[in-house]
Amino acid sequence: VLSAGSRLPSSRVLAQDVGVSRGVVSRVYAQLAFEGYIVIRQGSVPTVRAISPVESIGVDREERTRLRYDLRAHLPEVSTFPRRLWLRSVRDSLGQAKDADLSYGDPAGLHELRAEIAKYLSRARGVTVAPEHVVITSGSTHSLSLIARALLRRGSRLMAFENPSHYLLREIAHAAGQEIVAVPVDGEGVIARFPARATAVVVSPAHQFPTGVTLSPERREDLLAWAAETGSLIIEDDYDAEFRYDRAAVGALQGLAPDRVVYMGSTGKTFVPALRLGWAVVPDDLRDDVLRELSLTVLQVSGMDQLAFADFLRRGEFDRHLRHMRDVYRKRRDVLVAALGRALPDMPVRGIAAGLHVVLEMPSHEIAESVRARALAAGVAFETTAQHTFSGYRGPAGLILGFGAVAEPGLEVAARVIARVTEEECAAEPAEESAA
Ligand SMILES: Cc1ncc(COP(=O)(O)O)c(C=O)c1O
Repeated sequence: VLSAGSRLPSSRVLAQDVGVSRGVVSRVYAQLAFEGYIVIRQGSVPTVRAISPVESIGVDREERTRLRYDLRAHLPEVSTFPRRLWLRSVRDSLGQAKDADLSYGDPAGLHELRAEIAKYLSRARGVTVAPEHVVITSGSTHSLSLIARALLRRGSRLMAFENPSHYLLREIAHAAGQEIVAVPVDGEGVIARFPARATAVVVSPAHQFPTGVTLSPERREDLLAWAAETGSLIIEDDYDAEFRYDRAAVGALQGLAPDRVVYMGSTGKTFVPALRLGWAVVPDDLRDDVLRELSLTVLQVSGMDQLAFADFLRRGEFDRHLRHMRDVYRKRRDVLVAALGRALPDMPVRGIAAGLHVVLEMPSHEIAESVRARALAAGVAFETTAQHTFSGYRGPAGLILGFGAVAEPGLEVAARVIARVTEEECAAEPAEESAA
């Protein structure tokens, strides 16, 4: 009811108004602050905290009004977006831009930005790349759409996807005219067993979506051997690998086989979704077809945003932002994993080494779905593994719990809600043969 920023009465005034002791009001305020609703600062009255607006994918309007904690895995923290530094890059880059930069440009993207991205990828992700190989896109979803269309143009019309994998990416490939086939994933990552007709596979090796598994060294070799032997392409979705917490980030596959891997990166999770900037590193023989698809759809990605992002990268601000956010997310992950471990000690939490989500394993898909629906009714949103599986999935059931967009107090509350409904559902429905 109260809008963000509203000032609440002091504990003394409210205590008088409602006729309770001041200690009661103080405890109520402390609890509200803990749950993330209000902000208390020494020497001033409490104010109502802004709860991040929930964007609409997968949650209807009625549900949105009840939503208090949004743990859907694709959401990063946006309140930390460095607005002032970004404005400086916008102002300075536009001030210094040549007239030609404001006209139609190279469909592959601004040369300065491609050069900055190439440097960034080699220092941060072990990706071998010259600026000429980088194509600037509007994000990984856009990159994948271009790649799927380019492959079709070359007569390649069956793409393999990890099972499970993000349903949106499969829909994009399907909409581009590709047939989709499933490849299984286990605790070591994707199993490189493909039908003969499949000439491309989409994988997320650093932090598989949604299982969170890191592709093992042996499986990396299997995958690269398959691509080399059959002349197939590996499409590497490197969507959140920058956020690895317990040791240095795993290098990208692309660095091991630049001719066989198309690499997709994005600012969607690492920076801010609204910017809609991403990049693909494309082997020589696919490049012209990808650029043709890009020209036929958007002609080129916003040149002004590219100028600003090139400036931001050149100043080292992107790297600084990533370092800061890695600390923010590490703390959130630790709080969520610890809270789940305390509340549900017998339920394994997987995929915690990297990224912005973990998977809480469930005894069955039925229980996972009931927990999801009941938690949503209680104001806690997240997805389940089953929402991302397809054709003949036989792996475990789970809840995909994102911690990107919820601060620690909210994660504690969300974990308690999840634990409560999970215990009730497990008691009501004794575990069946899991998932099979
Ligand atoms: C698995 C996966 N890949 C890629 C993306 C990024 O998409 P985009 O770069 O278009 O924002 C997401 C975003 O949620 C994702 O979950």
